[in-house]
Amino acid sequence: MLNDLSAFWMPFTPNRLFRDAPRMLTKAAGVYYESSDGRRILDGTAGLWCVNAGHGRTEIRDAVARQLETMDFAPTFNMGHPLAFELAARLVRHAPKGLEHVFLANSGSEAVDSALKIALAYHQVRGQKQRTLLVGRERAYHGVGFGGMAVGGIPKNREAWQTVLMPAAHLRHTLDLERNAFSRGLPQHGVEFADDLERIIRVHGAERIAAVIVEPIAGSTGVLLPPIGYLKRLRELCTQHGLLLILDEVITGFGRTGAWFAAERYGIQADMITLAKGVSNGVIPMGAVLVRHEIHEAFMQGPRNDIDLYHGYTYTGHPVACAAALATLDIFEREKLPERAASLAAHWEAGAHALKGLPGLIDIRNDGLIAAFEFAPEPARAPTRAYDVFRACFQRGLLARATGNVLAFSPPLTITTAEIDQLFSILADAIRATP
Ligand SMILES: Cc1ncc(COP(=O)(O)O)c(C=O)c1O
Repeated sequence: MLNDLSAFWMPFTPNRLFRDAPRMLTKAAGVYYESSDGRRILDGTAGLWCVNAGHGRTEIRDAVARQLETMDFAPTFNMGHPLAFELAARLVRHAPKGLEHVFLANSGSEAVDSALKIALAYHQVRGQKQRTLLVGRERAYHGVGFGGMAVGGIPKNREAWQTVLMPAAHLRHTLDLERNAFSRGLPQHGVEFADDLERIIRVHGAERIAAVIVEPIAGSTGVLLPPIGYLKRLRELCTQHGLLLILDEVITGFGRTGAWFAAERYGIQADMITLAKGVSNGVIPMGAVLVRHEIHEAFMQGPRNDIDLYHGYTYTGHPVACAAALATLDIFEREKLPERAASLAAHWEAGAHALKGLPGLIDIRNDGLIAAFEFAPEPARAPTRAYDVFRACFQRGLLARATGNVLAFSPPLTITTAEIDQLFSILADAIRATP
């Protein structure tokens, strides 16, 4: 095996620490990886929240291979190819009602930036040119493009670029450990956090705000759940003040919460939904924006020979990515993976909360097939306890995801109850072994 680890600059990683003790994955099948030293590693995170249908799906592999043999690439600027249209139409069939158009991108970051650009341009084409302010949320993660960074709310992700980011206001986050620690499913308290949008409206004026973007469940920051009623209240306020509501479903989409989209599960009508990750099962990169019919229509009012949206990527609707996404949709439809996730959720919840009482844990939270374990902060400790437990999990054959003081789990939706039991048993052992 290659032992020069110096050239690849790893993303979001303490590179020097990693090189001291590398963790390498070399194979994957079903819900397991294999590490370079030949150990089976239970994939507790669906890769990076993306391999929702499990690893090594032959249908996706075959569809990708067939597409490579048929046509490797075709442009979508002023040209078409059937797969992009087929994929968009099939995504719309599963999308919440009213979201009838699809803009394709190659990642969650691109999907978010595309949605923000569509929101800003939408107000322009309607003559509301003053609506330029974007509203995100404290602790949000919307990827690493300049738009996503501006509405994102994780300080470290913004710090070095703060001065050049476009203006954005931020809602308060929704974590309230004092009232909601160890909630099962969505927390009871905190619907009023949505009213923070009224504060932002008072400061800036509703007529200057273009859109509000939130993750239904904030994932990367350590799994922050929306209190019961919170998203509905946010929707009401957006409607009342003419603001677009964008739901960033890059991790909550594609079955993660037990429905195709969290918007559907929580009963929220979004103006746009951003997708990525699970849409192509992580096999070939892909992102997408689902757009409300009225928004799309607003762009179709100008002269027919004008370009309606000055935005797009060379790889928008890449045929190989489309083939992967279509095969992913086939699997989701046939195996009813969102329903499967919903049916596993009670077992998952019980398994996660059985760890209550283990040393250092100050919260366990869950919804759908997501669970997070938060450890008491230890300011002097570096790396954090969560990071140490993540390493202990890996040694014991489990892939976890550590952010700050939180360890998050989001396994493939194909996981069995026995594998869920195995996951929480390894985790309990790793927590006990990591003082
Ligand atoms: C909610 C959300 N939005 C956007 C992104 C960015 O996606 P990508 O890493 O594919 O650019 C992520 C990635 O984790 C995410 O969780």
